[in-house]
Amino acid sequence: MRKIAVAMAKGGVGKTTTAVNLAYELANQGRRVLLVDCDTQAQVSTFLGVKPHYGMYEFVTGRDEKGAKITKTEAIFPARKNLWVLTGGIKLVELKNWLGEQPRDQRHGILGKALVPKGDSLDYLIFDCAPGWDVLSVNILMAAEEVLCPVALQNLSLEGLKTFFGYLVSAQKQNERLELKYILPTLFDRRTKQSLEIYKKLKRLFSKQICHPIRYNVSLSEAPAHGKTIFEYRTKAPGAEDYRKLARRIIDDGIRAEQVPRFF
Ligand SMILES: Nc1ncnc2c1ncn2[C@@H]1O[C@H](COP(=O)(O)OP(=O)(O)O)[C@@H](O)[C@H]1O
Ligand SMILES: [Mg+2]
Repeated sequence: MRKIAVAMAKGGVGKTTTAVNLAYELANQGRRVLLVDCDTQAQVSTFLGVKPHYGMYEFVTGRDEKGAKITKTEAIFPARKNLWVLTGGIKLVELKNWLGEQPRDQRHGILGKALVPKGDSLDYLIFDCAPGWDVLSVNILMAAEEVLCPVALQNLSLEGLKTFFGYLVSAQKQNERLELKYILPTLFDRRTKQSLEIYKKLKRLFSKQICHPIRYNVSLSEAPAHGKTIFEYRTKAPGAEDYRKLARRIIDDGIRAEQVPRFF
């Protein structure tokens, strides 16, 4: 199972848009995906037009707010074919308090331990992260192995990247499997000099991690209001084409990794 955190220390850069559309397309390609919403605004569910009753709080603590037992299977919501959602929302505030009360040497690994599915029932865990840095963000970076970092091709985006690298380095001290795998340029507008300049700089700095950019596309911003992914809303839109490309690259990397001969 691959565990990918879509993370960046800045809001409005396309994290949720990326997590939702990538997860949908991976599921559409026959992979079994759990999309984990780590934001108190529960944007993932809004973007997908679903209203799960339970979510991450119940999944991790095993209880609802009245103390009744909730199984992990009850806490995940089937949002589409092959795609399940573990919703976030305001209850994450309580979850963070709960995590903060756990023994210091264990609290950062709780989510990772809870998110181990039976057998090979899941192919991908995709985390839609919140921009800040708290006990939940640390838990996610302990549970994940790959980081996908959306960078908006706009002013000050490299500042956010710098802040995020600070987080990443401290997370890597505790989780040595964690790797910055993908840098995804978003809100790409070929007509602006700024977009092109930042894109070129990113290509130079991250020649291995750089992905094909996601263009600025109005359909991508309209789709969530209809509770649809870009593939369901406008399957031929540039946004659909770009996210299809991203999913393809991620699937292909996985296939290549599986084909590497193993000697241990
Ligand atoms: N490529 C894009 N083209 C146009 N609008 C976009 C694009 N990507 C994201 N958006 C819009 O920008 C806003 C912020 O995106 P979002 O994914 O919510 O960012 P984040 O999760 O990083 O805060 C949303 O309204 C979203 O619909
Ligand atoms: Mg978001």
